[in-house]
Amino acid sequence: MPFGQLIKSKIADVQKLGIEIDMIAPDHGIIWRGDPGHVMQKYLDMANGKSNLSVAVIYDTMWHSTEQMTLPIMQGLKDEGLDCKVIKLRASPTSAAIKEFWNSRGCLIGSPTLNNLMFPTVAEFLYHLRGLRPKNRIAGAFGSYGWGGGAVKEAYEEFKKMGLEIFEPGIQVLYKQSADDESKCYEFARGFAKKVKEYHKNFE
Ligand SMILES: Cc1cc2nc3c(=O)[nH]c(=O)nc-3n(C[C@H](O)[C@H](O)[C@H](O)COP(=O)(O)O)c2cc1C
Repeated sequence: MPFGQLIKSKIADVQKLGIEIDMIAPDHGIIWRGDPGHVMQKYLDMANGKSNLSVAVIYDTMWHSTEQMTLPIMQGLKDEGLDCKVIKLRASPTSAAIKEFWNSRGCLIGSPTLNNLMFPTVAEFLYHLRGLRPKNRIAGAFGSYGWGGGAVKEAYEEFKKMGLEIFEPGIQVLYKQSADDESKCYEFARGFAKKVKEYHKNFE
């Protein structure tokens, strides 16, 4: 993600050489044999920040209230015709969450409030992501809280530091979602999906 521009110009240099490539052996990582053209195209797509018209829902939870919010959220996204991948941070490697983030035009971050802040795994994920300097993605946040809240606000602070496109306001639910909260989460997701579709047009 951070070296996309550099990679594009290096691939152009290699292409100018006009040599036939049998194998790609990077300094670190796996050695590619067989179909280097396919690998180069994938690499270029990543460097160009190509993404799907889809949403990555990335969250964590202590007692499942934030997790329950993902259900009406997934339904709202689906009803707007968007695919979504749902990642629970404590059950997935950070690299898998980053990959889903980068594959999708939109991202919804879910976190309960812990001591006025985000849950640590969510904060760690966003911190890691910031270092990768993501571009051309739209983000929103949701989460459960018990009194003053804070996680959703903190997530938006992180989005701003990264310069992501933002869908505001986020949605907070007091403890476990009520039927009314569930409808609000559903509508939040539909609103987000509409924005993602609109934003994606800039890259078609
Ligand atoms: C150790 C601990 C600290 C918490 N700190 C806060 C807090 O500072 N502000 C707040 O609004 N809620 C706080 N809560 C309440 C949780 O945010 C609330 O229980 C929420 O529903 C948890 O969501 P989850 O089920 O997704 O984990 C705290 C809960 C725990 C267990």
